[in-house]
Amino acid sequence: MEGIERVCQFLDEAQTYYLATVDGDQPRVRPFGTVLLYDGKLYIQTGKVKDVSKQLAANPKAEICAFKNGKWLRVAGELINDDNHDIKVAMLEKMPSLKAMYSADDDNMQMLYFQNATATFSSFTEAPETVTF
Ligand SMILES: Cc1cc2nc3c(=O)[nH]c(=O)nc-3n(C[C@H](O)[C@H](O)[C@H](O)COP(=O)(O)O)c2cc1C
Repeated sequence: MEGIERVCQFLDEAQTYYLATVDGDQPRVRPFGTVLLYDGKLYIQTGKVKDVSKQLAANPKAEICAFKNGKWLRVAGELINDDNHDIKVAMLEKMPSLKAMYSADDDNMQMLYFQNATATFSSFTEAPETVTF
């Protein structure tokens, strides 16, 4: 399995990850769960009305962290907006519960993909492993 596929699988299995953004000089963090691998890119989903979206528009630098079975994963990079309709549809198909809140044609649903990403798998027992994409 390719590195980015392992990252996506880990996030899927962990179910919840924590997304940190920058708000001026104040870090902000919140739980997220959306993840989609599409055309070789790792996407997450949010709403453009949310503070998190506004923070990323002002400063795309972000980091996510997830924990599962004694291992944790951090992905640091930039989150870039992508308004491609097909990707929104694919996200809604992967996680149909989102359809209660979003549609691919509303002005709110937002897909963001990681650029210049460094993903690090860590545990207390093994050396860290790094993947870039
Ligand atoms: C388990 C869990 C998963 C969540 N996943 C997402 C998600 O993938 N995308 C999203 O926009 N909000 C998600 N939320 C809601 C956000 O955490 C919430 O809207 C948060 O307030 C957004 O950050 P902000 O207030 O800084 O904009 C999730 C909440 C929980 C509890």
